[in-house]
Amino acid sequence: MIYTVHDIHDIYLQFQIFFTVKFKMPVETLFSSDLISSEVQAALPKGHTIRPLSSEDYEKGFLDVLTVLTTVGDMSKAQFLERFYYLKAHNHEYFTLVIVSPEDRIIGAGTIFIERKFIHNNGLVGHIEDIAVDKNQQGKKLGLRIIQALKHIGAKTGCYKVILDCSEENVPFYEKCGFTRKEHEMVWYI
Ligand code: ACO
Repeated sequence: MIYTVHDIHDIYLQFQIFFTVKFKMPVETLFSSDLISSEVQAALPKGHTIRPLSSEDYEKGFLDVLTVLTTVGDMSKAQFLERFYYLKAHNHEYFTLVIVSPEDRIIGAGTIFIERKFIHNNGLVGHIEDIAVDKNQQGKKLGLRIIQALKHIGAKTGCYKVILDCSEENVPFYEKCGFTRKEHEMVWYI
C-alpha cells in the first residue's frame, strides 16, 4: 500500500488526538500569542484575558459560547481536537481567539481567516467569522475587543482589507467597530 503525504498527516493527527484525550498532554495554542494586541488586552475588564484558542478550551466552554451563533452539534473532545489540530497545521491562515473570564471560562470568541489571492499582487484578504459573546456578557464591549484584536491580526499578517458578512441587525455593531457597508452577501445551501 502506498501512503500519500495526506494519509501520513491524517495518521499523525489521529495519534495526536488519541494521546491528548488519553493522557495529560501539554496545553497547545492555535497560534503565537505575539499576534495578540497588547492594547486590546489592556482595554479588557480587570481579570479578563484575550488569547489564541487552546487545546483545553473544550472544557472551558468554547463550544457553548458558539451556540449564540447557531447549532454547534454534540461534539466530543476528539472531534474538537480534530478540528483544532487541523487549524493549527494551517495557523498561517486560521486565527481563532478567545476572551477568558476571571473564573477561567470562555466568554467570547472570533476568527479571522486569511485568503491568498492572485489579484492585488498576490494580495491577502482577511475574513472575519463566527464572532460570539456569551449571552450574559453582551454589551460590555467584549465584541468590540474581539474585532479590534482580529483587525490587528489582519494588519500584522499583511492583509490589504478585512471583510465580513452579518445580519442587518448587527450592522450598527460593525459600524461601531469601524466597518462600512459594501456590496451584498449571496449564499447557496447544499
Ligand atoms: N445594534 C446596535 N448597536 C449594537 C449592537 C446592535 N445589535 N450590538 C452592539 N452594539 C453597539 C454597542 O451598543 C456598543 O456601542 P457603544 O460603543 O456606543 O457603547 C458597540 O456596538 C460595541 O458593542 P459590544 O458591547 O462590544 O457588543 P457585544 O459584546 O454584545 O458583542 C455581538 C456584539 C458579537 C454581536 C454579540 O451581541 C453576539 O455575540 N451576538 C450573537 C451572535 C452574533 O450575532 N454574532 C455576530 C455574527 S456576524 C459574524 O460573525 C461575522
